Amino acid sequence: MSAVLALAGVARTYPDVPPVKALHPTSLVISEGEYVSVTGPSGSGKSTLLNLLGLLDLPTSGSYRVGGVETVGGSQALRNAIRGQLFGFVFQAFHLLPGRTAVENVELGMAYGPHRRKARRRLAVDALERMGLAHRMHADPSRMSGGERQRVAIARAVAGHPRVLFCDEPTGNLDSGNTSNVLALLRELNADGLTLVVVTHDADVAAEADRCLRVVDGSVSA
Ligand SMILES: Nc1ncnc2c1ncn2[C@@H]1O[C@H](COP(=O)(O)OP(=O)(O)OP(=O)(O)O)[C@@H](O)[C@H]1O
Ligand SMILES: [Mg+2]
Repeated sequence: MSAVLALAGVARTYPDVPPVKALHPTSLVISEGEYVSVTGPSGSGKSTLLNLLGLLDLPTSGSYRVGGVETVGGSQALRNAIRGQLFGFVFQAFHLLPGRTAVENVELGMAYGPHRRKARRRLAVDALERMGLAHRMHADPSRMSGGERQRVAIARAVAGHPRVLFCDEPTGNLDSGNTSNVLALLRELNADGLTLVVVTHDADVAAEADRCLRVVDGSVSA
């Protein structure tokens, strides 16, 4: 299955009082291997767009095909399977579990993917080594630095070899040194063929991408 992402007329309105039109009808294709950034003011709809692309949320209307397969109107099981096999996620707040070691956190990230238990440990170790964390593998993330935690989060997101990595403010909590480390890692992953979609407030982070999307008041433009 390919991992081309194709939104056609996708909109999202949150059922608040009054309803919030967070994303106006949007049509957009992200090809395999692309490095795309998404910028825009706070509240403009960036996370809404990312959550829809990542199958973490469903549009109110429109069609969303992943590798040609329609995901809107299909079963939740189909969306879960696509997400588990093709997608990885990195968020600003890391979402690492305390009380588990770094390598356990990375293994847990593959729980819904295609890899068997034994393979998961090896993949987790590989990913942490790649992020320069071989020496912190058995540490609790709550005792790691912000930059280290973000690298564990990236290791967790990419350990199972997803095809698309979605990042929401991946450098939001990092200083400039750690930001450049994370950017170098993302660039390397993209060079290996991973599709990247990166939401960011930071113009320098956005400029790393090959294609920049801008979201203003729920409208996406190139
Ligand atoms: N679950 C929700 N229910 C109702 N409204 C929501 C919900 N989530 C987001 N919104 C609203 O939808 C709009 C878009 O929100 P979104 O989180 O996509 O913005 P954003 O561009 O990611 O902002 P930020 O840069 O601050 O993260 C905002 O007006 C927000 O208040
Ligand atoms: Mg957001």
